[in-house]
Amino acid sequence: MKKILSKARQSVYKLVDMTNKNIPNFKGLTIDDQGENNEILIDDECVFNRSKIVIAGNNNKVTLGATLSYNQLVINLKGNKKRISIGNSNKHINNLKLVSIRGNHQIITIGRNLSCGGMEVQMNDGNESLTIGKDCLFSWGIKARTSDGHSIIDIDSDTPINFPQDISIGDHVWISEDVRLMKGAIIPSDCVIGAGAIVTKKFDETNSVIAGVPAKVVKRNIKWDHRQPSKYKPQ
Ligand SMILES: CC(C)(COP(=O)(O)OP(=O)(O)OC[C@H]1O[C@@H](n2cnc3c(N)ncnc32)[C@H](O)[C@@H]1OP(=O)(O)O)[C@@H](O)C(=O)NCCC(=O)NCCS
Repeated sequence: MKKILSKARQSVYKLVDMTNKNIPNFKGLTIDDQGENNEILIDDECVFNRSKIVIAGNNNKVTLGATLSYNQLVINLKGNKKRISIGNSNKHINNLKLVSIRGNHQIITIGRNLSCGGMEVQMNDGNESLTIGKDCLFSWGIKARTSDGHSIIDIDSDTPINFPQDISIGDHVWISEDVRLMKGAIIPSDCVIGAGAIVTKKFDETNSVIAGVPAKVVKRNIKWDHRQPSKYKPQ
């Protein structure tokens, strides 16, 4: 694990000199650190293609585990004390975009062995978290947001009703193409989310297929496997 402790104004970097905003040891990754005391920990085994980390703020921490490759990884942080952590993966992580440009203290935790075709996370309020368990399979065109960005207000009480909420995805969850995860979504372990679903609720049944708009449980008592149906061998 390489540790890059950056203090942009003083240009003090540990282990790797980032003053030219390029990390020689990590071809394919650029870092633009405009803050102070931001910490970026990158596993030696990481492989990057057209990836970038932009941080405008202080005391943030980004930890990237080793993967087969990060392709077009984008991490864009504004604000302070945010935590991003991606576990080691024996798969490719493609087109993962993590954006948190408002608020402070947000946390994104991604477990080990994520396989990802494309996901964009927007986390723009404060104190929210997004947690993804281990061994998940994400298709393309997935979007997750922990807040709505603008207020919906109850007229009688004149108070906002759409506060941000955490999103939580269990272990070994398969998310199909073009799924949207809204604030407060909870997906239990071993579930499959159908293509185009909009997940707005907290689900609690493991081993189910959840699909539709808004998403509902459409099948129970299932498990899923990376292999195609024709290649699957019963255990
Ligand atoms: C979720 C999915 C895997 C489920 O497949 P399945 O188990 O064969 O499901 P079925 O076709 O038997 O559908 C079960 C029910 O859910 C409904 N359903 C299935 N997928 C749905 C979807 N994406 N949106 C809304 N409803 C859906 C079906 O209409 C059916 O409803 P019914 O019981 O009222 O008739 C599949 O429908 C899907 O979305 N595939 C896309 C996978 C993908 O994106 N792959 C890319 C590579 S990662």
